[in-house]
Amino acid sequence: MARTLIAGSGSEIPPNKVTNAMLARIMDTTDAWIRERSGVETRYYVDPGTAASDLGAAAATRALEMAGVSTGELDLIVVATMTPDHYFPGSGGILEAKLGVRGVPCFDIRQQCVGFLYGLQLVDAHIRSGLARTVLLVGAEIHAGFMPYTRANWDYLYGKSDVAPTPEEYAWNSRFRHLTVLFGDAGAAVVCRASDAAGRGIVDSILRTDGTDYDKLYVPGVGFRHRPYVDPDQYRRGEHIPVMDGRYVFKSATTTMIEVANEILIRNDLTIGDVKLVLMHQANRRINEFVQKSLAIPDEKMWHNIERYGNTTAATIPLLWDECARAGRIAPGDLVLLVAFGAGMNWGATLVRA
Ligand code: ACO
Repeated sequence: MARTLIAGSGSEIPPNKVTNAMLARIMDTTDAWIRERSGVETRYYVDPGTAASDLGAAAATRALEMAGVSTGELDLIVVATMTPDHYFPGSGGILEAKLGVRGVPCFDIRQQCVGFLYGLQLVDAHIRSGLARTVLLVGAEIHAGFMPYTRANWDYLYGKSDVAPTPEEYAWNSRFRHLTVLFGDAGAAVVCRASDAAGRGIVDSILRTDGTDYDKLYVPGVGFRHRPYVDPDQYRRGEHIPVMDGRYVFKSATTTMIEVANEILIRNDLTIGDVKLVLMHQANRRINEFVQKSLAIPDEKMWHNIERYGNTTAATIPLLWDECARAGRIAPGDLVLLVAFGAGMNWGATLVRA
C-alpha cells in the first residue's frame, strides 16, 4: 500500500513585524510580561485586505516548487484555517483559484491549532485508499482581524501616526491583552505524494476531540446561534473577539499533549530515543517546556519559533516543518513527532518518517 510522503514545504510570513514594546504603545502590557509568560518576542501581521488564502497560496507555491510538483498534478487540496477569508464559502476554493487550478476537490477544515494534524490524517486516508496521489495541504491564519484596535491604533502601533489611543481605547485594548499578544499571522503548506519508498511516510496518527468545555476558548458572537448571526451589539460587547480561559487551556494542553505523545510512541513500539525531531504547536513556550520535561526530550530534538511568530494556529506545524526542512534539520528517514492542542478542544499526534 502506498504511504504518504511529505515531498515539499513552503511558508509565507507577512511584512509587518510587531515587537512586544510596540504592543505596549496601545495597551497595558510589557515586553517582560509577554516574554516571561509566553515566550513571544515578535509576531507578524498582514496588511488589511490580505486573506488566509493569499498567505496559503504563496506558501503553497513554494511547497510545490520544493517538491518539484506542478499544479496540474494535484488531485486534492486541503486547507486548514480558523480565520477564513469569508464566512462562506471556505478558503479552499479561493486558494485553488489563486494557484490557477480549477476542478480539483478542496476540503476546508477547522480544528484550529490542530487543523494541520487533522488535515494530514485526511490526506493520508486519501493516499492510502488510492483516492489521491498528490495532495496540497495548507495551514494559514490571519489573526490580525481578531485584534480589537481601531485603524488609528494600528497606525500608532506601527509608528505611522502620533495620535495615541484615547483612555477608552487603551482600556478596551487592555481588556483582551492576555489573548491578543500571543497570536500572529502566517501561512505554510506541504505537498504530500503517494510513495512506495520502504518505511517512509506517515507512520501513524491519533486525533482526539472533546467539546465539553468548548467555551473555554471560542468566539462567543458571530455565529448562527444568534439571530441575526452578527449585529452591532455583539461588536460593542466585544463578542467578536475570542474568549480564552488561559489557565484552563494551559493545563489541558500540557496534560493532553503528554498523553497523546506517549500513546503514539507506545503503540508503535518506539521511544523518544527513536525520534529525531519533535515539533509541538507553539501556543506558549512554557507549555512546550513542561511537555518536553515530562517526556524527557533532549533540547537538540526540539525546534521552537514562538519567539519570532507567536501562535499562528493552523500554520504553526507546517511552518515548523518548513523551517526545519530548509535548515537541514530533517533528512530522509528521520522520524518526526508532531504534537498539537487547540480550541475545540482538539488535540493529536502524528509520526512521520521523512
Ligand atoms: N500583559 C501584562 N499583564 C497581563 C497580560 C499582558 N499581556 N495578560 C494578562 N496579564 C495579567 C493578568 O491580568 C493577571 O493580572 P492580575 O494578577 O492582576 O489579575 C496576571 O497577568 C496573571 O494572569 P494569568 O492569566 O494568571 O497569567 P498566566 O501566567 O496564566 O499567563 C497566558 C496567561 C499567557 C494566557 C497563559 O495562561 C497561557 O498561555 N495559556 C494557554 C494559552 C493557549 O495555549 N492558547 C491556545 C490558543 S490556540 C487555539 O486553539 C486558537
